Parts: sequence; C-alpha cells; structure tokens
Amino acid sequence: SMAEKHFKYVILGGGVAAGYAAREFAKHGLNPGELAIISKEAVAPYERPTLSKAYLFPQGRSCTIIRAEDNEMTKLIISDGHKVLQGSQAFMFVLEVEEKDCFRNGTQKRVRIELILSTEIVKADLASKTLTSAAGAIFTYDILIIATGSTVINLSDFGTPGADANNIFYLREIDDADKLVAAIQAKKNGKAVIVGGGYIGLELSAVMKINNFDVTMVYPEPWCMPRLFTPEIAAFYESYYANKGVKIDKGTLVTSVKLKDGRVLDADIVIVGVGGRPLTKLFKGQAEEEKGGIKTDAFFQTSVGGVYAVGDVATFPLKLYNETRRVEHVDHARKSAEQAVKAIKAIEGGKVTDDYDYLPYFYSRSFDLSWQFYGDNVGETVIFGDNDPASSKPKFGSYWIKEGKLLGAFLEGGSPEENTAIAKLARLQPAVPDLEQLTKEGLTFASKI
Ligand code: FDA
Ligand code: NAD
Repeated sequence: SMAEKHFKYVILGGGVAAGYAAREFAKHGLNPGELAIISKEAVAPYERPTLSKAYLFPQGRSCTIIRAEDNEMTKLIISDGHKVLQGSQAFMFVLEVEEKDCFRNGTQKRVRIELILSTEIVKADLASKTLTSAAGAIFTYDILIIATGSTVINLSDFGTPGADANNIFYLREIDDADKLVAAIQAKKNGKAVIVGGGYIGLELSAVMKINNFDVTMVYPEPWCMPRLFTPEIAAFYESYYANKGVKIDKGTLVTSVKLKDGRVLDADIVIVGVGGRPLTKLFKGQAEEEKGGIKTDAFFQTSVGGVYAVGDVATFPLKLYNETRRVEHVDHARKSAEQAVKAIKAIEGGKVTDDYDYLPYFYSRSFDLSWQFYGDNVGETVIFGDNDPASSKPKFGSYWIKEGKLLGAFLEGGSPEENTAIAKLARLQPAVPDLEQLTKEGLTFASKI
C-alpha cells in the first residue's frame, strides 16, 4: 500500500547539499522520524567530486559507498580529502557526528534519518506540501529543502545525430561512474574521445590517460575552460596535457557521433561533458526563478514560505558582489545547505542568523596538478610564477583586477598557506596601484595582506 508519510523536514535530493544539510540538522539534534532524505540515487549522500577523480583510478577506489542493501555500519563519505560520514542499514541512515555535546542529553550519539533511496519525485505541490514519487508514494512535510542539483546536458539536446549510441558516457551520479568503470575494464588500453573542454573534459581526459587509454579531447572553444581560464592559464594546461600524451582537437564542434559501424568518431569510449542544467522543473510556476535557478533570500528560503533551495539549484544574493548568482560547485553546495538549516533552526528558536556571505571558491585536480580559484574572474588579468608545463613542480597564478581592485585569484600548485593567502586577497579586494609591480610581486603580494 502507498500510505502517505509525513515528516517535519524533507530534503529532496540525495547529493552533496543533502548530506551537509542532514549533518547540520544532526548537530542541532533530531528526533527519530523527523527528517527524511528522498533521493533517486540508490546510495546515501556522498562527495560527488570523487566520481571524476579517485573513484575512477585504476588502482582501485579508496572509498566505500553505502548501498540500500548494505546492513553493516559502513564508511560513507569518502576519500576526496573530506570528512567521513557514517551510515548503516537499508533506508535508515545513521549519522554519527563528532561533536557529542551538541546532542540534547550529551550522551545520545546517533541520529536516525529516514533515507528513502531509489525514489524519484515526479510531482511537487508546494501549496499542499506534498511530493509524489514515480511509484506513487506520497510524502508530506512541514519544511522542504530542495537539493535536486543538476543534470547533464545531453548531446541530443543539441540535436547531434548518434547521441544515443552505445558506449557514450556522461558523468553525474554513481550509476554513471559504475558504468564507466565497467567500460574502462572491458575496453582495456582502448581509445577514448572526450567531448567538452570544461571541468568534466579536463578531469576525465586525465583519468582516462591514467587508465592507459589513448585520449583525444574535442571542444568547440579556442582554449579549454573558457568560463574561468584566461588564454595564458589554458595554455599551461593544454601543453601539460599534451606532454602527458593527451591529444587536443580544439575549435571543433562534434556534430555527429557514430561508433563501430560508422567510425566517424574513432573511439571505444566517448565521454561527454558539455555542461550541466539545474533540476528546477518540478517547481516551475510555484517558486520564483531567476538566472536559471530557484530564487532564494540570504537564508536560502524561496518565494514560498518554509521551502528552501540549496546547492546547484539556488540563485542567491551574493553579498560580496551585491548581485544574485547561481554557483555549481561543491563548496557552495556544502555551505548553502548548512546556512539553510541554521536559518531553519534559528527561526524555530526565535533567533536570527547572519546573512550568507559567500566568497566563490572553485578547484580542480588532475594528474599531479591542483588549482584553486577564489573570487570573481572579471576585469584585466596578470599572470605570475613558473608556468612552464615542463617544470618538475610548476607553480603559477593569475589575478583579476577591476577598477583598480583585485577581485579574483587563481593559483596552481599552491601550498595550503598560499591558498589561504589568495582567498584572503579575493575577500579583502585590495587596491592595486600598478599591474607591472603586481606581476613582479606575484604571490608575495598575497603574503603581505
Ligand atoms: P547533487 O547533484 O550533488 O545532488 C542532487 C541529488 O538530487 C542527486 O542525488 C539526484 O539523484 C537527486 N535528485 C534530483 N532530482 C530528484 C528527484 N526528482 N527525485 C529524487 N531525487 C532527485 N565541484 C567542485 O567544486 N569541485 C570538484 O572537484 C567537483 N567535481 C565534480 C565532479 C563531478 C563528476 C560532478 C558531476 C560534479 C563535480 N563538482 C565539483 C560539482 C559539485 O559536485 C556540485 O556542484 C554539487 O554536487 C552540487 O550539490 P547538490 O546537492 O546541489 O547536487
Ligand atoms: P562545463 O560548463 O565546465 O563545460 C562545458 C563545456 O562543454 C564547454 O567548455 C565546451 O567545451 C563544451 N561544449 C559546450 N557546448 C558544446 C557543444 N555543442 N559541443 C561540444 N562541446 C560543447 O561543464 P561540465 O564539464 O560538463 O561539468 C558539468 C557540471 O559538473 C558543471 O556544473 C561543473 O561545475 C560540474 N563539475 C565541476 C567540477 C569541478 O568544480 N572541479 C568537476 C566536474 C564537474
């Protein structure tokens, strides 16, 4: 029978933001049955960035992911340099939180969260506070947190013929990653074509090379990652990748995909990373939208009272730049989720929370490389440091300067202290009197602030 189930709090989506929201609820204390996570994935929340990195390494994965059928206490959130959440049991996700004293009586350590997996919500009625699953199950709530994230843009969305051929892979969820792992094993030392020169393109071409594939990247732009990289930054990564044996075919649009039979694209595996699209469809006409996302206030509450939106789907006020933005990165997914739950708990306690005051932070890792970016990539740029792709330990950066102020900072190969220093720069936005002097000083400029 499909009895209706009611929860005080429902988190819709089971990704990064969902996991961090649940963790924040647990810190504040939860009664059994108060919180449910509803996810179409078959696994509990995990750190999604791992899927394009360690999860695909040939030497096996240093991470364990809990599945609905697992019964034992298992390590859940995994090896991408982040905290471990613990989980257990089918449909019951027991969250262990380090801070024991944040629980009501100081002794309670475990928090029960209803984990409703492999369950896709196909209808949301915000007026009656009701969610309906594909199988017809009905869930009602007092407070809803929308954490549906993004889905991939499909080649067929561009009308590309052959876009549904076998052996074309996308990467968003753990099922996608598992299919790719199986293909990597089945097509050992084969040829891989990577379509797209963004995050997925750069991370997956490296991973496929590490798996000993013959790798070609194809992308339409004149240089990789144009939404962040300057031509100078991109030149470093393109040469570094070329030195690793990755072939790069840029300025080319893939207009047709044929495999085996047609061999237009000669590949055993094609991996497509041509962008993401936030999953807001369920709420069309019910919650206000802006810039492609669900519009929220500084506490991630939407235009509908008691309904919050966090992570990739939220268009929120970015206080630092006095404008609204949507951000598709993991740091914001974590922090927005924590902010929403803090705000929910503050309202319950008759208190106020501080506004969200976010400093944009993006990063990526591939091969032996690792970069971080903080702030806003607008205005003029300077580049400094050792950006020779053949160096044994390249370390270089870029600053973005607008109207005499430093707004953005990028650093490849930085130490934790150096990364903290450039983050501080982007936050404080110091005046830059002289670009030539700034170029000469490079990282020293950051350490002075
Ligand atoms: P997320 O996508 O994590 O979760 C959404 C969840 O909602 C999924 O579980 C989905 O199944 C579920 N869902 C959606 N619709 C549903 C429905 N109707 N019913 C039920 N469930 C539904 N960022 C970064 O800063 N550094 C990095 O290195 C990386 N690396 C990276 C690798 C890969 C492979 C990807 C795909 C993405 C990254 N990112 C990243 C981006 C980062 O992972 C992303 O911004 C966050 O995961 C966003 O978190 P959300 O919780 O908003 O969505
Ligand atoms: P992206 O926006 O980074 O890159 C999209 C790329 O697709 C473009 O740069 C372009 O090269 C290519 N493209 C666009 N239109 C095309 C067309 N018609 N034909 C061929 N190529 C075309 O998106 P992505 O790399 O697919 O990543 C998807 C999502 O996952 C994004 O939200 C991204 O932020 C996230 N992600 C982030 C990280 C990270 O932060 N390290 C890592 C992986 C994924």
